[in-house]
Amino acid sequence: MPVPLVPELRMHRAEAVAPVWFETARWLDDDDADVPFWCVPWAGGQALARYVIDHPEIVRGRRVLDFACGGGLVALAAALVGGHVRAVDVDPLARVATELNAKENRLSIAVTTHDLVGDSLADVDVVLAGDVWYEPGPSARFRRWFRRLARTKTVLTGDSGRPYVPRRARELARYEVPTPFELEARDVRTSRVLAMDPAASRTAEAKAGR
Ligand SMILES: C[S@@+](CC[C@H](N)C(=O)[O-])C[C@H]1O[C@@H](n2cnc3c(N)ncnc32)[C@H](O)[C@@H]1O
Repeated sequence: MPVPLVPELRMHRAEAVAPVWFETARWLDDDDADVPFWCVPWAGGQALARYVIDHPEIVRGRRVLDFACGGGLVALAAALVGGHVRAVDVDPLARVATELNAKENRLSIAVTTHDLVGDSLADVDVVLAGDVWYEPGPSARFRRWFRRLARTKTVLTGDSGRPYVPRRARELARYEVPTPFELEARDVRTSRVLAMDPAASRTAEAKAGR
């Protein structure tokens, strides 16, 4: 199906998440299986993908990482406008979904499942992260890492109003993104594209608590 805010791209995606979640848990034989994040283009990811397509100069000809790719929407957007893209997600099913979605759009994306948080990403110019600010522990890790990376790279995130989004970030754009009521308990989420500010110094970071 086409992606609501990014109709240039098509994704294998669920109209109803619950049956996919149920089947995934059954297939994995795991009652505690996580939400199948990969079967939905999340609102923050849609906003970031829209922004990248409308501002291709950010990624064209550059080495791009879609961090926490889910179904790979942001990676697809960056590849569509000329980025050299790889994607990472710790969920192996997200890797498969991203590969299928790349194939569907005739795009080439290398996908891995390592936890890269803390890595210096020496071979990356641009880091993109859609809708990752929904849990306190991981969000704190991502935030510290992104601020360090932002000293030498472009680091952008798309956020749909999740609770742990960094306060110190520059808003670049804002979109009204259609969302499934089943997941978000609303039909639209206002979603922002944010540029991460670099870490000024260890002391300033610690003082600000961010
Ligand atoms: C809400 S989904 C967002 C997916 C996609 N970026 C989008 O906007 O549609 C969050 C994703 O973060 C992934 N994730 C969580 N911790 C991660 C980590 N340490 N490294 C890579 N991916 C991670 C999850 O597996 C999940 O696919």
